[in-house]
Amino acid sequence: MSQISKVGVIGAGNMGSGIAQKFAQEGINVVMVDMNDEFVQRGINTIEKMLQEGVERKIFTPGQVDDILSRVTGSTDYAAVADADLVIEAVFEDKGVKSELFKKLDQACNEKTILATNTSSFYVRDFADQTTRPDRFIGLHYFYHPAKNRLLEVIPYEKTSPATLEKSLLAAKLHGKTAIVVKDAPGFAVNRFFVPFLNEAARMLEENLADIPTIEEAAKRAFKIGMGPFMLMNVTGIPIAVHAATTLGEELGPFYAPCELLKSQKEKGVNWVLDGDVDESRIQPVTERFYGVCLGVAAALVDEGVASIEDTDRGAKIGLRWIMGPFEIMNKIGIEATYAAVDTVARKYPDFKMPEILSRQKAAGKPFSFNFVDLDVKNGVANITLNRPEAMNSLNEAVVTQLTAKFAEAESNPAVKAIVFQGAGKAFVAGADIRYFVNKIKADKIPDIVDFTRKGHEFLLQIENCSKLTIALLDGLSLGGGSELALACQAIVATPSGSMGFPETGIGIYPGLGGMLRLARHVGPALAKYYVFTGMPISAENAHALGIVNRLVAPVEIDGALDDLMAQGKTDKYRRRDIPARFEALAALGSPENVSRLLSGKPPEGVDKALAAKTAKIVGYKAPLALQAANAIIDQQIGKPMPEAVEIELGRLHEIFSTADALEGLSSVGRRRPEFKGS
Ligand SMILES: NC(=O)c1ccc[n+]([C@@H]2O[C@H](COP(=O)([O-])OP(=O)(O)OC[C@H]3O[C@@H](n4cnc5c(N)ncnc54)[C@H](O)[C@@H]3O)[C@@H](O)[C@H]2O)c1
Repeated sequence: MSQISKVGVIGAGNMGSGIAQKFAQEGINVVMVDMNDEFVQRGINTIEKMLQEGVERKIFTPGQVDDILSRVTGSTDYAAVADADLVIEAVFEDKGVKSELFKKLDQACNEKTILATNTSSFYVRDFADQTTRPDRFIGLHYFYHPAKNRLLEVIPYEKTSPATLEKSLLAAKLHGKTAIVVKDAPGFAVNRFFVPFLNEAARMLEENLADIPTIEEAAKRAFKIGMGPFMLMNVTGIPIAVHAATTLGEELGPFYAPCELLKSQKEKGVNWVLDGDVDESRIQPVTERFYGVCLGVAAALVDEGVASIEDTDRGAKIGLRWIMGPFEIMNKIGIEATYAAVDTVARKYPDFKMPEILSRQKAAGKPFSFNFVDLDVKNGVANITLNRPEAMNSLNEAVVTQLTAKFAEAESNPAVKAIVFQGAGKAFVAGADIRYFVNKIKADKIPDIVDFTRKGHEFLLQIENCSKLTIALLDGLSLGGGSELALACQAIVATPSGSMGFPETGIGIYPGLGGMLRLARHVGPALAKYYVFTGMPISAENAHALGIVNRLVAPVEIDGALDDLMAQGKTDKYRRRDIPARFEALAALGSPENVSRLLSGKPPEGVDKALAAKTAKIVGYKAPLALQAANAIIDQQIGKPMPEAVEIELGRLHEIFSTADALEGLSSVGRRRPEFKGS
């Protein structure tokens, strides 16, 4: 993969300035071009204002803002982006303006430059064909606000080269986007079902099926969203909805075309009036229509190969912030009910046909299953990607089953020399799916948790003992089970945004997948206890200093680091090492004496007073039984062979998950600070 070090953004408006801001935030130099100095300056002012808000909300320090702004330059000359690796167009949504622009950019830019359009309603091919570099042309469709919304639709068209797609996906990753690859089709993936969602709301109103407050409420309940379609149109502009529906209608047929009421509302130039009472008796028919339309369209786009079911769901969840994607909703309400709702819509609009995928699924009589783990073998390297970015790649039963299967496939492939685990999106793996644990405890099925964990251990031991080199690519946050997966690999490559952490004792349990065991083998029991007791994150930099991470590199240097490790071959990951002096105080906090003090609520001794007080305070918030169990397990595991040490950890799992504190801690995640009773 090649490097992305300079990006050009053409158009310094709403989208362009946000796109430029995001690249600069992620450390990439960006040049923003607009038609005159005033517009360029307006774009820069917008970025400054956004970043200032970030300072007020404590997301950035003033120093970071200066740093980010130093990476943004403005220009009115296309020559300023001539040497960019990627140039993204975000000018007016006008075919003529965009076509002219791409002709100029094609002439101005170097051979290597990839040109990209952020168009919402035209085909990528319409502009690519205006240039002499169709192979280096792609669609990159952002979502408002592009510095905040993580979704990016990446749209290769038929002549886009694989290298361009790969470089574009790298660019997406480098500026913190979750990319979904989508075909060059009207509305791409997300607008294809989102625009009909808006249009159908207006149609239902037009048909007097229900009034605005009722339609709003039905939509909010059906998709678990904060704003219904009418409010969304008021916020983003009714003309945009009409324009989007018009272009979809022209390409796909009258079902997608804006209804008369929507058009007349645009003509009137006034917003929808949202006030009024909800008519509960109309909620059900409105919900069914919404489901029929949105789920039907989602199924149709998958049928046409526009996007996968997983990416369609991701588009809804990340781009539109739905709690569930269309296919997850179909599973929830049932395929029969989905089919019936879509069938009603298909009968109403002759140009809307029942999607094949729904008929097949109905015939199969089972819900959709999702692929969360991808395997890609190239040049002797098997890349296993945990691809559930909307849930920070957290591990549930389905993910672990798929992960195990993909690993087995990679391991048995004679062409594979090394296996690299990575996470899609911003995180590596954010631990285990907490809901799974809560459900099992409530259903009185704790033995299932023990079985699940035992299988997990067997899998991690296979990774650790694999005859092929296993590497974790830690380029984002990892927690709990995710950090344990990374620690099980034979080597770790990290970028500065990588981290590990063991928050378990703060939620009533202990790290159950070898986290304590492997951490202690790396850095000794005292430091392992410090990290397990406090849950303090181990940054990639610290993990590197401690010898846990083998290579710490910038994102663009990842491939080189992987090659380097493969050339070097296996090393003893638990080799003896010197722990840098700066960790001595932390290790002192985990000494046997200080651990007993901490466990009895007293501040540790022999370290800086402020650090001792802070540590005692943090540990004071943790579950006492979990701390005691972790302490005993780490002690008992010392010097034991791996399988025996694993049994020690498994041996207390039933006990810890049976505590009231475990249920309290696990149920409180993301909601409130748990209150532990020590029972
Ligand atoms: N707004 C959204 O939610 C959204 C979402 C996805 C994609 N888009 C697409 O992004 C693009 C930009 O949208 P926006 O909302 O930022 O528009 P905008 O009107 O806010 O900004 C467009 C900018 O482009 C500049 N411009 C126009 N022609 C130019 C040229 N030839 N050279 C240099 N600069 C030029 C204008 O001066 C203006 O500053 C459109 O294609 C739109 O469809 C918008």
